[in-house]
Amino acid sequence: MRMILLGPPGSGKGTQAQKLIEKFQVPQVSTGDLFRSAAKNQTALGKKAKEYMDRGALVPDQVVIGMVEERMKQPDCKKGFILDGFPRTIPQAQALDKMLAGLGMNVDAVVEVDVPDQEVVRRISGRRTCRNCSAMYHIEFNKPKAAGKCDKCGSELYQRDDDKEEVIKSRLKVYHDQTAPLVEFYSKKNLVKKVDGIGSIDEIFGKVIGALGAK
Ligand code: AP5
Ligand code: MG
Repeated sequence: MRMILLGPPGSGKGTQAQKLIEKFQVPQVSTGDLFRSAAKNQTALGKKAKEYMDRGALVPDQVVIGMVEERMKQPDCKKGFILDGFPRTIPQAQALDKMLAGLGMNVDAVVEVDVPDQEVVRRISGRRTCRNCSAMYHIEFNKPKAAGKCDKCGSELYQRDDDKEEVIKSRLKVYHDQTAPLVEFYSKKNLVKKVDGIGSIDEIFGKVIGALGAK
């Protein structure tokens, strides 16, 4: 299972990835999570990425590609991976093709999660993320068992700095301008499976599994 989850911010990529990694027992590679973890650890990469993330802009391609290349070389990616939030531009997709070819791999499927902009704003404004393990919740649609605490590790839940309404608008514009063209890029390779992202988390998971032809 080597797949890409494509979709606007807040479409549920991370939520579905967490369910998919349990089913397929392959790692999730989320560039957003990798940058947030680097920012939390105050590394040079993290500090640089945060400047872009906080205003809803994309981190420069070379920085992202270098980071993903390192991650894909780790032994756990040999059995497969779920890419969440990467690639996000045509140059990133081309770089991914090249790096996978070098590792003797290819992408099996690109699942496009389709969610309209107004629903994105509703989802992102209620999102809470675990400071420690990055698990995510929603104050209305996916509540933690104890308010403000992660079900998995008990750590504090927080609201991401880029989850403010004006930043969400920039992220959506960036998605439509720079990331949506990837649908055509991967359609030409016959890899795109489009899934309607409206419905409960479990309903959408069922649709993703169906689109992948898995049981
Ligand atoms: P990243 O972390 O990837 O953010 P994003 O793409 O904006 O996506 P989100 O994580 O906001 O949403 P999601 O689709 O994962 O939805 P989620 O499952 O959380 O990137 C952040 C930043 O990092 C970028 O802006 C950029 O600066 C930088 N970056 C990252 N990758 C990069 C790259 N490749 N190149 C350049 N820069 C990069 O769900 C959202 C909420 O909705 C949650 O609260 C969830 O509980 C809830 N929810 C989920 N499903 C449902 C449902 N079916 N019904 C109701 N609620 C639901
Ligand atoms: Mg995410």
